[in-house]
Amino acid sequence: MPDTSPPRFALASGAPAGTRADVLVLFAEEAPRPNGQVAEVNQALAGQLIRAATEEGFRGKPEQIFVLHTHGRLPASRVVLVGTGPREKTDAEALRQAAGRAVKAAQRLRARSVALAVPGNPGDTLAPVAQGAALGAYRFDQYRTEGREERVPLEAVRLLLPDGAARSRALDEVLERVLHVSEAANFARTLVNEPAGHLTPEALAEEASRAAKGHGLEVRVSGPKELQKLRMGMFSAVGQGSQNTPRLIEISYRPKKAAAAKARPVSLVGKAITFDSGGLSLKSAENMADMKSDMAGSAAVLGALQVAAELAPPFPVLGYLGAAENMPSGAAYRPGDILVSRLGKTVEVTNTDAEGRLVLGDVLAYAVEQKPAALVDLATLTGACVVALGHWVAGLFSNDEVLADQLLSAAARAGESFWRLPLVDLQKETLRSDVADMKNHGERWGGAITAAIFLREFVGDVPWAHLDIAGPALAPRERGYLGKGATGIGVRTIAEFLEKRARSGR
Ligand code: BES
Ligand code: MN
Ligand code: ZN
Repeated sequence: MPDTSPPRFALASGAPAGTRADVLVLFAEEAPRPNGQVAEVNQALAGQLIRAATEEGFRGKPEQIFVLHTHGRLPASRVVLVGTGPREKTDAEALRQAAGRAVKAAQRLRARSVALAVPGNPGDTLAPVAQGAALGAYRFDQYRTEGREERVPLEAVRLLLPDGAARSRALDEVLERVLHVSEAANFARTLVNEPAGHLTPEALAEEASRAAKGHGLEVRVSGPKELQKLRMGMFSAVGQGSQNTPRLIEISYRPKKAAAAKARPVSLVGKAITFDSGGLSLKSAENMADMKSDMAGSAAVLGALQVAAELAPPFPVLGYLGAAENMPSGAAYRPGDILVSRLGKTVEVTNTDAEGRLVLGDVLAYAVEQKPAALVDLATLTGACVVALGHWVAGLFSNDEVLADQLLSAAARAGESFWRLPLVDLQKETLRSDVADMKNHGERWGGAITAAIFLREFVGDVPWAHLDIAGPALAPRERGYLGKGATGIGVRTIAEFLEKRARSGR
């Protein structure tokens, strides 16, 4: 197997022009005046950096990148200029994107070592630059055998502090924290990218157990018999058509201090359909192609629990993964079946492809029994949400204004986009059934809302938010620090959310 371990990250001070590396990355604003780091390197190259870049049309626009071989005139073999756009728009996300893009360019140049000149005030800029680099360095290529021998692993990333900024404990901690979060997001990406033939519910449970051991988390796995005993009739039904039987995976962080351990938990629920064929309401080949990613919500929950373990907030964080494979077979649940949920509500199945809400309904009801202070579910729930918001924005639904605002601002800090959609009461009538308390599938229109309304039936009056990540779970193309494929969406937002709550002491 090739080396897929992440590069080592280190903070360094010292002039970029004197830094030895395969690639030296400089951030360039879209402005007539280059920043100090660019100016210094340009001077060391007798003005040739800016002259050549300008001649090639490089203006510092986002998406622009310029590579110059130094041919021994600097200790760095190549200089990469990466555009960050106009100064007034250069926020943390612009730096994350630029750093990711630069690292991907360096990897294409077969660099083993990269040095990034952290621009501006490192108190603000170190975290996004390091995170963009850590996320950008991620690759999922362990199954590609061609060219495996020639592949060059990126081994070291150095973050050069600007002139006058000294290394400090505080900056070390910022770096350590942001790398943990990035690693958790990359872990989630790998789980999502892993094919469904490998990542069955059982295998996901093993991954969760391994992750739990590595991070001092508690884990408990329940199989099909226990799901029956827990009266999770909806969850059980979704899993009954597959040879790969379902698992409820509970993974929890509990504070060491007794008082904190007794605080009301933050609970996270993830959809973990390891493969969604649609069941007997079979999907078309086109719509089925990416359905190994239908467990992205639970991958984010696992990533978030790793972050919780590092962060050690003064309240428990409880994760619940509802893992099942939705398959057609002689044992599969059918359209027309009436299921009895853990809450006791009955549901008429009118479409076996609306399986996520069935699994989540039972798991949410179970999570509510622990009286969480906040309950957040993450799920690749509806194609309708992709139609509404596209591939770069996720939907957020909530019955609680405060929780909705906390999550939206956490997402903004993290550089993940969410857009709040309404829980329209009127939409519930599309789920009216003649033979049971409700149907699992209404009409096409407003499908993301209908699904959220269905989930709301199972959360009582607990402050709850539902994140429909069906669109952004996968990136349709490379962009900034994202490659084509799994994004790890949700991990960074929940990490910010937990961190803010931990700081405010609840
Ligand atoms: N896993 C899908 C939703 C999905 C679609 C995720 C596209 C990612 C990309 C979900 O289980 C599903 O099949 N939803 C149906 C619901 C419908 C039958 C009510 C859908 O969106 O078509
Ligand atoms: Mn489905
Ligand atoms: Zn699904």
